Amino acid sequence: MEKQIRLDVSNMFAEKIGSEHGLNREQVDDFQKKADQIHRYIREAKKEGKMGFMELPFQDHHKIEEIENFAAQRKSEIENFVVLGIGGSALGSIALQTALKDPYHNIRTDVRNDTPRLFVPDNVDPVRFGSLLDELDLEKTLFNVISKSGGTAETMSQFLITRQAVIEELGKESLKDHFVATTSQESGYLIEIAKQEGIPTFPIPGNVGGRFSVLSPVGLLFGAFAGLDIYELLSGARFMDELCSTADLWNNPAYLNALLEYLAYQEGKKMSVMFPYAHRLKDVADWYRQLWAESLGKEVDRDGKEVNVGPTPIKALGATDQHSQVQLYMEGPYDKIINFLEVKNFERKLKIPDAYQEIEGVSYLGGHSLNHLLQTEKKATELALTKRQRVNKTIILPEIQEHTLGQLFYLLELQTAFIGELFNINVFNQPGVELGKSYAYGILGRKGYQEMKRKYDKSPDHSEEFIV
Ligand code: PA5
Repeated sequence: MEKQIRLDVSNMFAEKIGSEHGLNREQVDDFQKKADQIHRYIREAKKEGKMGFMELPFQDHHKIEEIENFAAQRKSEIENFVVLGIGGSALGSIALQTALKDPYHNIRTDVRNDTPRLFVPDNVDPVRFGSLLDELDLEKTLFNVISKSGGTAETMSQFLITRQAVIEELGKESLKDHFVATTSQESGYLIEIAKQEGIPTFPIPGNVGGRFSVLSPVGLLFGAFAGLDIYELLSGARFMDELCSTADLWNNPAYLNALLEYLAYQEGKKMSVMFPYAHRLKDVADWYRQLWAESLGKEVDRDGKEVNVGPTPIKALGATDQHSQVQLYMEGPYDKIINFLEVKNFERKLKIPDAYQEIEGVSYLGGHSLNHLLQTEKKATELALTKRQRVNKTIILPEIQEHTLGQLFYLLELQTAFIGELFNINVFNQPGVELGKSYAYGILGRKGYQEMKRKYDKSPDHSEEFIV
């Protein structure tokens, strides 16, 4: 069985798409020198410890065993495993669950076996979070509080609420049995609290940011509790690292994909759609949207010049969005590049039965399968977009399992690092996110953020003047 994921970029080029919107080979070749330079930079930065995500596939086996052992010990005691975290501390786990667990894992006891129900509420919506609390039997629940900084308002609020509930129902001494903290070991309030309460902890390496952390304990602990093969996930990432060890643009899928996105952006395709044709990959698209948006949306470049760059990532799902967004992609402005995710083999086949032979408009479906229908819909949409001169490319997964998903995560992370160099920006910071967090801290009265509160009070933005 072929295990390598593939990148098909033919529909990016003039031969298929026409010269008005299509690229040509020379445009790629012209960037080879630059690619050599970036390749050297990435290798050097990795050696200097600045590319933490590239170290994750090669992390110490003992650390993985610790994760596995912890999950194995605790799994039998619990019915619910709940991640408290947001953004990069939640989206990787959600992507893993949707991709690799049964779609109805939480309600199907027949497929769950010894795996707990899995919840990643992510948001702090009071209705949703409150409803989850109502549903959980706290005695059989383990909360994994994930926060690299150890101070994010949403995550710490979720922690304070669940902590109180556990104390009220089970007593303060049981906090250590119902919480685990995944956080920076060097700084932050969460590590301080965990030590104080005797809560076990797992580390988030200092050089790995939230959106690049899915292959760190952030995603791996979740994977271990979910019963996934986390060794295979890492093995897939190593496999992709090897495939991307060349500077040759035509042979390095991460670099080629990044460059094509960059060239399309320069030609006015400033929106990048991630369009999986498998429901299982829907939340990988969500994870990727954050990776792309937070890493690439930047005001200034490395030289401090104001650039305000960043492709807008859009998430779609086939075939659902054929009946929603595709009309816009086909006929709207030529400002998008479409990235299909295609799956060759689904793990099950569902046949469409023969019926209503006398009604031609329905009977033609009989004898086909949902698999064939979904794959055909992708091919048809791809062809129609290509005929309409809409640039598009496809990442093909032989099947969805840990190995191919590990490859995909790593490919998309490395391409983000590479395109960041083309834009000459720092992909690993997020000053815009920090600014919003600081205002929130100020408004909520956190010490040290009084200045943000003063700015907020003085700001005309929250006057009622324009509210109708
Ligand atoms: O990717 C990022 O850095 C962010 O999305 C963070 O993951 C998010 O803001 C949560 O931060 P923290 O893990 O520090 O609570």
